[in-house]
Amino acid sequence: MTDFHTHILPGMDDGSGSVGESAAMLREEMEQGIRNVVLTPHFHARDDSIPSFLCRRRQAWNQLLPHLPPQCPNLFLGAEVGYFEGIGAAEGIRQLRVEGSSLLLLEMPFCRWTERMAEDVLKLNGREGIQVVLAHIERYASMQPKQMWPYLRGNGILMQADVSFLADWRSQHRGLRMISGGEIHFLGSDCHNMTNRRPNWDRLSPGAKAAAARCAAHFPPGTGIPAGWIDTDIQ
Ligand SMILES: [Fe+2]
Repeated sequence: MTDFHTHILPGMDDGSGSVGESAAMLREEMEQGIRNVVLTPHFHARDDSIPSFLCRRRQAWNQLLPHLPPQCPNLFLGAEVGYFEGIGAAEGIRQLRVEGSSLLLLEMPFCRWTERMAEDVLKLNGREGIQVVLAHIERYASMQPKQMWPYLRGNGILMQADVSFLADWRSQHRGLRMISGGEIHFLGSDCHNMTNRRPNWDRLSPGAKAAAARCAAHFPPGTGIPAGWIDTDIQ
């Protein structure tokens, strides 16, 4: 299974605070049956430039490398990119895709999205070599008009949901229905640490786990993800 949304890289954001914690999170992912982990630290254009973010990410990766547990999931470098006005035409944004793929994890604002924002997202998705994946869609679902989801999906936007959406009995039914309806393409733990936001795949019931495996094990065709694998088993 693949964890598509994590904050495991040390010292990058409000996620892991040390290499020791990062290593513990990766061990936990492995024990919970996760074989591929996408590392998605926050990128906010208001606080950081893309070159500086990539430089910090490389440093965090280099710090983590000697501390990777012997049994470690395969790791991809990526980012959780905060939406900003004009992102559809922003320069350099391709560099924030999940390594070896066209996938760009986009976090939208927690408000009712305007038509202009939706068009900006579609413009971004229409650029060559960029496939937008909206992060933790369950968080902002209730704020959007009903037609927003079919509109975005119909225009090729992919969706990521958090594991907690499937683990919580209040939302589990809806989550499972969305997976079988092809409305969720990726799952992520959105883990931040080893305390209150730890990897939480172990919270899934057997039925939800089976659904999660169906959803997360298969990347959509054309995203080319296997080319960018970092095979940590051989390092
Ligand atoms: Fe996140």
